[in-house]
Amino acid sequence: MLFRRLGPSGLRVPLFSLGGWLTYGGTVVGDPVKEIIKTAFENGINMFDTAEAYEKGKSEIEMGRAIKELGYRRSDLVISTKIFFGLRSGPNDGGLSRKHIIEGTQESLARLQMDYVDVIFAHRHDANVPMEEIVRAFNFVIDKGWAFYWGTSEWSAREIEEAYHVADRLGLQGPIAEQCQHHMLHRERPEKEYAPLYKRYGISTTTWSSLASGLLTGKYNNGIPPGSRFDLKADFFKDTRASLTTPEGQEKIRKVQELTKIAEELGASTAALALAWVARNTNTGTVILGATKPEQLLDNLKALEVLPKLTDDVLARIEGVLNNQPAPLNVYSRPPLDPLVKNRF
Ligand SMILES: NC(=O)c1ccc[n+]([C@@H]2O[C@H](COP(=O)([O-])OP(=O)(O)OC[C@H]3O[C@@H](n4cnc5c(N)ncnc54)[C@H](OP(=O)(O)O)[C@@H]3O)[C@@H](O)[C@H]2O)c1
Repeated sequence: MLFRRLGPSGLRVPLFSLGGWLTYGGTVVGDPVKEIIKTAFENGINMFDTAEAYEKGKSEIEMGRAIKELGYRRSDLVISTKIFFGLRSGPNDGGLSRKHIIEGTQESLARLQMDYVDVIFAHRHDANVPMEEIVRAFNFVIDKGWAFYWGTSEWSAREIEEAYHVADRLGLQGPIAEQCQHHMLHRERPEKEYAPLYKRYGISTTTWSSLASGLLTGKYNNGIPPGSRFDLKADFFKDTRASLTTPEGQEKIRKVQELTKIAEELGASTAALALAWVARNTNTGTVILGATKPEQLLDNLKALEVLPKLTDDVLARIEGVLNNQPAPLNVYSRPPLDPLVKNRF
């Protein structure tokens, strides 16, 4: 496993971690959860991600139970969870009020059977709460020892920037990472909107759905296989399922087929190629994997072997297939800056 610092913090995270959305406590329960987490840990994954809302709290319960039964030393693990969506529908049961951040964190820790998580994420931005309240509440959680760091998830660059400035003004800790969707078919926000944040604040990403929920494995090229995510979670993925037969959906599948040819030349699976491509981005802190079986995890971890094969030539071929690279900032026909000082403004 390779390790990276998460954002500007000293926390080291594995380049590939494992998350429990829709899987643990949902389509996967009991011993199979333990089996997948054990496979992950034995193959160098020591970071596990969940959220209060995943399967209405059952993801935290299943992952916490499995980790406890496996008997791992807590300090050997990096655990992250996320607060926002809540489990009940009362006026203060969700969002980012000080009340829900604190009560939600306490409930998450109880479900996980842990004294603390390493990173706690604001699962979404909450425009109904003053930023100062949000920043102060996450710092309170940190001061209590219930988390060591905090981060954001799917916040806009403007919102993240505001959190930084408020934290800076108050002499408090700002968010260290943004948990965002990033994969070959979804690039604009992580690659363009956040670009100034990586430079100015040193944040990095913990990426989600880096296989586009499985689409980038090629498993949906010829329809929806029984037992797959789009089959078992048909209601949730209603729009995605319908889009597969549209011209846009067919174009995505054509791209996946082209990517498969490149992957085969590299002796890799399409999934491993897609994951290595996200991991190769130096703004990525960790790629959060999803897996319903240990074999999927092992296949996906082959991305580590693909990484050194992503030469400029291979990357250019991938760009040729994807044809969706976010447009660079407009420099109004001025020549490019000296690349040796590219990280300075
Ligand atoms: N912050 C957020 O808003 C947010 C949102 C979503 C996810 N996340 C985090 O990111 C994690 C990963 O997201 P994700 O689960 O959507 O990731 P993903 O990698 O895009 O999808 C994972 C799913 O694809 C299928 N799959 C994975 N590897 C495969 C392989 N080698 N061959 C065939 N099928 C394979 C499996 O589903 P089936 O076997 O069921 O088909 C698996 O559960 C989540 O667990 C969660 O921790 C965060």
